[in-house]
Formats: sequence, structure tokens, C-alpha cells
Amino acid sequence: MCGIIGCVSDVDVVEVLIDGLKNMEYRGYDSAGFGVHDGNTIRVCKGVGRVDEIVRSLDLKSFSGKIGLAHTRWATHGGVTPENAHPHLSCNEEVAVVHNGIIENYQALKASLEAKGHRFRSTTDTEVIPHLIEEKLKAGKNHRDAVLDAVRELKGSYAFLVLFRDLGDRLYGVRKDAPLIIGLSERGNFLASDVLAFLKHTNKAVFLENLEVTEVKRDSYIIWNFEGEEVQRSVSTLVWESMTVSKKEFTHYTLKEIHEQRETIALALRQDSDDLDRFCLALQGADRIYIIGAGTSYHAGLVAKHLFLNLAKLPVEVILASEFEDYVTLIDEGTLLLAISQSGETADVLSAVNIAEKRGASVLSIVNTPSSTLARMSEQTLYLNCGPEVGVAATKTFTAQLAVIYCIASRLSNLSIDLIKITKAVEEVFGVERQMAYLAQAFSTSKDCYFIGRGINYPIALEGALKLKEIAYVHAEGLAAGELKHGTLALISEGVPVIALNPRDKTYHDTLSNVAEIKARGGRVIGISDVENSLYDYYVKIPSVGKLFYPLVEVIPLQMFAYYSALERGQNPDYPRNLAKSVTVK
Ligand code: AGP
Repeated sequence: MCGIIGCVSDVDVVEVLIDGLKNMEYRGYDSAGFGVHDGNTIRVCKGVGRVDEIVRSLDLKSFSGKIGLAHTRWATHGGVTPENAHPHLSCNEEVAVVHNGIIENYQALKASLEAKGHRFRSTTDTEVIPHLIEEKLKAGKNHRDAVLDAVRELKGSYAFLVLFRDLGDRLYGVRKDAPLIIGLSERGNFLASDVLAFLKHTNKAVFLENLEVTEVKRDSYIIWNFEGEEVQRSVSTLVWESMTVSKKEFTHYTLKEIHEQRETIALALRQDSDDLDRFCLALQGADRIYIIGAGTSYHAGLVAKHLFLNLAKLPVEVILASEFEDYVTLIDEGTLLLAISQSGETADVLSAVNIAEKRGASVLSIVNTPSSTLARMSEQTLYLNCGPEVGVAATKTFTAQLAVIYCIASRLSNLSIDLIKITKAVEEVFGVERQMAYLAQAFSTSKDCYFIGRGINYPIALEGALKLKEIAYVHAEGLAAGELKHGTLALISEGVPVIALNPRDKTYHDTLSNVAEIKARGGRVIGISDVENSLYDYYVKIPSVGKLFYPLVEVIPLQMFAYYSALERGQNPDYPRNLAKSVTVK
């Protein structure tokens, strides 16, 4: 969840760290901090708020040095306070650490360190790391062994960086169940939890595997396993090197990414034919298939279930990644796990994949981030090809996931994909943007909002509700339209907004009956459809796109509605409170 970056260079690293941190801010953004070695001491600057605010208020620009580390935080242990921001220092300020993850046994370690006289300045789990390393140094260990020895006592999932005051030419990095990547450039080397942190400077990267430690200098690096044996890892060339992480002319990343769908859906629909064939062969050869994902990726899985079942008679079960453990006894060599994830780093997803692999199942994935842990753990991966997504709310990656799923479904059945028709329809749906902004204003004081849809439209109702909750902080529920009368209808009263996903497919007439039931109770219905009906208080026209492809065009107005609702309610849609883009803790 947190973002970490370190850099060893032959030029000043402060601007590089600030920039790298901003590019990772989407991972977590309640506080941030920097530690820079000025040739003599490690100077630390940290505080609560966004990176820009901290840089401005704490005079970071007066810092200079050729080696440093930085951190953007999403609080897990310890409140959002300046003291709890990283880096954390050891008592004698010889050791500085930035950390992403959780140290599960920190309470026991802290108690034992305090008994030895260590004084803690924060209430985080992280702070045990620098104190523990200091203890190892005091016991006579060299720097590398102090790190390795400390690591052997830590339980949990983590990646962290260590900067020593008396070693101003190198950083140490440790990886266990959280990503850590070395970036190699002409002017120096990086260590970061995300390639976006250094992509501007280099496309050459080395991915640490689990249970590895690295020592990174300006022009070299060494990797060891936790036993201290040296290991070799090859250098990868990153495929996102040419993509800039900028908002372009848009006010927010979220809006930019919504608009990018004009191109990204078509890009994701262009899957390599051989890759698709291999992927489908594996699906067809499995005894049973589980699709797993979290949040938006789970919703994409629900669409996949509908298509695979209805088109290819391929039954699959879709499971929330965080609930997968319940299925462990059913997993064996005949099982295929299809993991869907934008980031490829979601802890719940990786944990399910680990369970499945241990029981001999095959793992396939649909992923956006090419170099992610999930992609590297999978036997086969289909990529979304839609570039980095920075807005915390998944938008373009959801429709790209759907596009890849359509490609798979079309290989498994006789579904034909008319790329030109879809591209035109997606372009056309952008015509409703002003109307969605108007509707967001019209309902800007509503406390609740309901989304209904049947069949393949049901997961889109869930997705519309998730978007509105996460970026506009409006209580929202997505429902299978037929379920409304089984309870939730009791909540529909005068003026309550209900968004009905009701395209001209086989669900049309039944959903219209549900709309009538809502109207009879005073609900205000926004009908999203290619057919107008007088029951709708507001009609949002979407193009006719062929009955199975409606999800692609009906979700875009919902994304716009959530985006403009966030603006109406004074929220920054790119950085919703309490959330992080990549959820790397369980
Ligand atoms: C989507 O808008 C959310 N930010 C969130 O639900 C997200 O989809 C979920 O955390 C899964 O992430 P992943 O696709 O990177 O695994």
C-alpha cells in the first residue's frame, strides 16, 4: 500500500525522490517522508499530507545529497501523525528505514528491544526494524549481516530499504511478500516498490524475488537470499518505458483515464492469437475453474462467468480473493485458477495464488502491470495493454479487463467481436458526459444511490455502486434488479435515486417491471439504455452495441457519474480517503 523509493546517484537525489514519490503517491497518501544522506548525517523530513504539501511546508528543498530514501504512507499500524511517517530511525540515528507491509510480531520485538533500552518515537510496526538492526550492529555484525539477522526475526509481509549513516554509498533492500525492484540507470541506481517511481530515468529493472536482500550502489548491485548466498537475477526491459504518467490536459487522472477508454478498449481487444489459443486450451482442459479477484477485478470476473457459461457452457465459480481459503480442500492438480488483477500485487490475490500453487493447481492471469508479482507467478498471462492507471478508482483497466474477457469468450465460442462497431460505440457514449455531470449535480445532496441490472448487467450495477462509494463517498448499492423486491425495496422512498441498467437485451422487460416498482414508491430513476421509456425520470442514451457487449458502454456513464459526484461534493477523485491503489496487505 505504501510506496518506497531509494536512490544512489552521482547527482543530487532530492528532486528524483520527490518526483518518484509523486508517481507512487496513488499507492498511499496520508503522509510522506524523506531521508537524505548529506555526507555526514541522515537528514529526515516527514509529515502528514500529500507529497507536495510536505515538500512545501518542511523545506525539503534545502536538503541535498547523493543517496536517500523516501516513503508515501497508507497507515496500517499507528495513526496518521508526523511521528508515524517514515523514515524511522534507530536510537543513535545510524540506521534509517522505509517500509511497505506489516511486521506481524512487532509487539513482541518492541517489548524486547525496549527492555534492552531502545526508545521508540512512533507507534508503528516499522520502527522495530531500525532498532533491531542497530542491535545487530552493536553485537558486532557487519551491515549486510545486521540486515540479514534482523530479517530472520521479522514475521509478516514486507519490503523495506535501509540507509546507514556510516555507509553513504549504498542502500540495502529486503523483499518478503511485497514487491521490490532495482532500477538501473546511467546516473545511478534505484530501489522501489513500483517501477513508476523510476520509469522516467530508466527502463532497465531487476525484480527481486521473495526472501531476498540486495545491496545497491551507484553503479552495481548484489542480491543474496535470506541464507546469505548470492543469487543471480536477469535484467528486464520494462514495457511501459514510453508512457508518461501525467494528467495531460485533464484536471484529474481519473478523468484522463475515463477518456483514455476511447483507445484502451480497442488496445486490449487486440490480443495475440497464439497466446489466446494457449490460454483457452488451458481453460478447456481444466477439471474446474475458479476466477478470483478483488473489488473491480472481481466484478470483471462476474462478467467472465456470465460469458463463459452462456456462450461456451464453461462453468466457473467466481470467488472474492479474500474468501478463497474456504475453497482450499477443493483445489488439486485438475483445478485452474484464473486471477484477475490490475496491479498484480493485491495481497489477497497473491495469497490465493499461493494456496492454489501449493495444491498443484494451474494459475492463469489477466493483469495490467506487466512486471507484477502475479504476472511472474502465472503460467500464462494476458495483458490489458492500457498503460499505467493512477486514479485509485479503476476505470480504463475495468473495461480493458472486460475486453480481454470478450477475447477469451470469443475463442471459446462463436462470439464475433466487431472492433469497428465497438470503437464507434465507445466514442459515441462520451456524448453523455455533460448529462452525467448534470445528473451528479441534480443528485448532489442525495445520501444514497441504488444501481440495478440483470444478467450480464448485474456486475456493472455493482461496479457503478463501488465507483460512487469510493470516490464520492455516497452510500451506494448495486443489486440484481430482481432482488430489489426481496428486501431493499423497503429503502426506496420519495426522491431516492436509482440507476437502472436496462439495455435492449433479454433482461429488458423484466428490469423495466422493476423500474415500475421503484417509480410506484417515489424513486427517481435514471434509465441507462438504448431504448427510451417514459418510466425513466432521466434517460441516458447508450449506443446499441450487440446484446453481450453492453457492459462496455454502460459502465462509462457510471464512471462519469461517480467522477462528477466527487467534484460536486468537494472530493478529490484521484485520492479518495482511506484507500490505496494497490492493496498489498491482507
Ligand atoms: C477499484 O476501483 C478499487 N480501487 C479496488 O476495488 C480494486 O479494484 C481492488 O483493490 C483490486 O485491485 P487489483 O485489480 O489491482 O487487484
